Amino acid sequence: PDPERDRLIQAYEWSAKFYHYLLKNTEHGTAAMEYLRARNFSDKMIDQFQIGYAPDRWDTLVQFLEKRNFDPAEMEKGGLLSARGEGKGYVDRFRGRVIFPIANRTGKVIAFAGRILGEGQPKYLNSPESRLFNKSRILYNLHQSKASIRKTRQIVLFEGYGDVISAWEAGVHNGVATMGTSLTDGHVGLMKSLADEIVLAYDGDKAGQAAAVKAIPMLEEHGLKVKVALLPSGLDPDDFISKHGADRFMEQVMSSAVSSIKFKLIYLKKNHILLEEDGKIAYVKEALEVIATLHSSTEREVYLREIATELELSYDSLKQDCNLLRASLQ
Ligand code: CTP
Ligand code: MN
Ligand code: MN
Ligand code: MN
Ligand code: MN
Repeated sequence: PDPERDRLIQAYEWSAKFYHYLLKNTEHGTAAMEYLRARNFSDKMIDQFQIGYAPDRWDTLVQFLEKRNFDPAEMEKGGLLSARGEGKGYVDRFRGRVIFPIANRTGKVIAFAGRILGEGQPKYLNSPESRLFNKSRILYNLHQSKASIRKTRQIVLFEGYGDVISAWEAGVHNGVATMGTSLTDGHVGLMKSLADEIVLAYDGDKAGQAAAVKAIPMLEEHGLKVKVALLPSGLDPDDFISKHGADRFMEQVMSSAVSSIKFKLIYLKKNHILLEEDGKIAYVKEALEVIATLHSSTEREVYLREIATELELSYDSLKQDCNLLRASLQ
């Protein structure tokens, strides 16, 4: 029994309901509602993900929690309130922000992420780590996606809240996200206990691609199969769905996810100008280093033939170089 933990969970549960109510049913929430509409968040998703709004005032939640006899010092430790700068007292931690409740595996709300309306810093304000909330072990939306994960033995891993929500509406019901932190061994261990395959659906920008390159070996080391969904540059999954719709997302992004090897080859290729000999040779060298690590000779042949055709090289010379490299790796 841990009464302090139970009280904090209770406070988060009630606060989530309260913020959701303020968003949907009061004038405080009007601007936030417009913001969410402009981003194509539907009423259905706003309800299902219990999205809320924390008004731009100092004591909305302070008063709400006080009326329900929560200890403000305890609520401050738990990340719902902040200690006032000077003197005594507490203020709301989340002000003027769209609230995304973050639940643990059993569906209890244990933290909030608050997004500013429009531009500004920080874009997302999160609850601090607490006895309930350990970022490196929580996956956003795991409580709702675990049924589908159990059935498919597959997890789609996104970067952000909006991606998980929009993808859910598009039909991806096994999606989760890490929260601002990069992937940790805690996340990987958790996923390994639930699934055999991870589809990385990170943002189509440099940071997203680099994060995928880093995540692949972490996942594969644990024996997880990895695929990568490719987003056009500049779009994240949520942007893609807003711009092109759910059907195109499912066909052109999710169903077209490539193997981790294929992704690495695509990624390497982007860094070279293949029209120049130097660029071509450098790309082939890096590509061979990736292909040489494949244990299956069939797989090696598939990728070597692809490169041979694409760069107008002979398969035999690629194979020879690849085998030399393999010999030197042993
Ligand atoms: N993140 C964060 N704090 C920030 C920026 C990002 O915690 N200042 C986390 C959030 O969980 C966010 C994720 O990292 O969802 C991915 O970051 P980014 O792609 O920048 O944000 P989006 O999810 O695309 O946010 P939005 O669509 O609302 O702009
Ligand atoms: Mn959307
Ligand atoms: Mn991003
Ligand atoms: Mn993003
Ligand atoms: Mn986004």
